[in-house]
Amino acid sequence: MTEKKGRYSNAFTATLAGITDLFRKQMNVVTLNETDRIEGKKVLITGASSGLGFETAVQLAKRGAQVWMACRSGVPQKGEEVKNLSGNKEVEILKVDLSDLDSVKSLVDQLKTAAVKFDVLVENAGMVPAKSRKTKQGLEEMFVVNYLSKYLLARLLLQNDLFNTTDGQVPRIIIVASESHRNPKAFDWDGFGKYKEYSMGKTVEHYGYYKLLLTTFSNELSRRINTSGRLNYSVLALCPGPIDSNITREAPAIFKPLLKVVFKIFFRSPEVAVRPVVYFAVSPEVKDKPLDYLFLMSRKEMDEKATDAANGKKLWELSEALLREHGIVFSK
Ligand SMILES: NC(=O)c1ccc[n+]([C@@H]2O[C@H](COP(=O)([O-])OP(=O)(O)OC[C@H]3O[C@@H](n4cnc5c(N)ncnc54)[C@H](OP(=O)(O)O)[C@@H]3O)[C@@H](O)[C@H]2O)c1
Repeated sequence: MTEKKGRYSNAFTATLAGITDLFRKQMNVVTLNETDRIEGKKVLITGASSGLGFETAVQLAKRGAQVWMACRSGVPQKGEEVKNLSGNKEVEILKVDLSDLDSVKSLVDQLKTAAVKFDVLVENAGMVPAKSRKTKQGLEEMFVVNYLSKYLLARLLLQNDLFNTTDGQVPRIIIVASESHRNPKAFDWDGFGKYKEYSMGKTVEHYGYYKLLLTTFSNELSRRINTSGRLNYSVLALCPGPIDSNITREAPAIFKPLLKVVFKIFFRSPEVAVRPVVYFAVSPEVKDKPLDYLFLMSRKEMDEKATDAANGKKLWELSEALLREHGIVFSK
């Protein structure tokens, strides 16, 4: 894994990095038009029970979308809240535990039965655990929730033709990543998918590494689904910046009061932090883009480890092989 001690190497430096980034001058800023709507478009959002995902559901429902919330908790209450806050009754909520590969498959089976075709997928769910934990399949939980389940969900939706590609539609796949993807020095291909023990001191370092996997996957996904110069899907990754959400729920109890104050003062509310997600979902400016990355509302390059095609190919193949070990074989 990483030896470099970067801006996101532990909880303290990561918090500081998040705050200082908010005060830097932003370049290449994009504008979210308040009148842009996505009337009747179908949007699937993971981790929609809290923080950024919940706010995404509210904002897109307000702009006319039919929102499908894929949640581990808050089913069905959070769906009712989104209906009430947005004034849009076109909200569905389904249960999924993204740490469990079977649960991801079962979510896709339910979507197949519903015969729904999505215009937008928002792969948002994420976690920062207090320490490593084994999933039902014996994998490391943060690796699965923050990376592998996203790979699996996107591939199963594609394989089962659950995106709306009729009449020249270009579906949008939005991936909530993080600037911390720049922190790792290198990939640990030999250790890919192997269970690793770590405690709170190393959580943030692993978090950044899984976000590097995610941004690398975004690049490779875009390359693989947009072949021969044809635009079939837009893959749109972003870092929302520091958010005053529930992401620190597993922080040691002794730090929680302090974190609460720091987050309240310096971090952005989900209502503000959601803007790049909403921009990617609704803006007509995105429609010709096979790939894009926003940090806050600024268009940026992703780290070159993530954009490197050889890394993308390796990650794609290793992910496929790991899932094969767990009985999941893709037909396309
Ligand atoms: N907060 C920040 O400062 C920050 C900065 C950069 C990027 N991000 C990214 O933004 C995204 C949203 O995070 P947030 O800040 O909004 O945090 P949050 O309030 O904790 O929301 C996280 C969401 O992910 C869901 N989730 C976690 N584990 C899951 C599982 N096993 N199965 C299904 N859903 C699961 C949670 O569901 P439950 O409610 O059931 O737990 C919740 O809905 C994450 O990808 C995060 O990495 C956050």
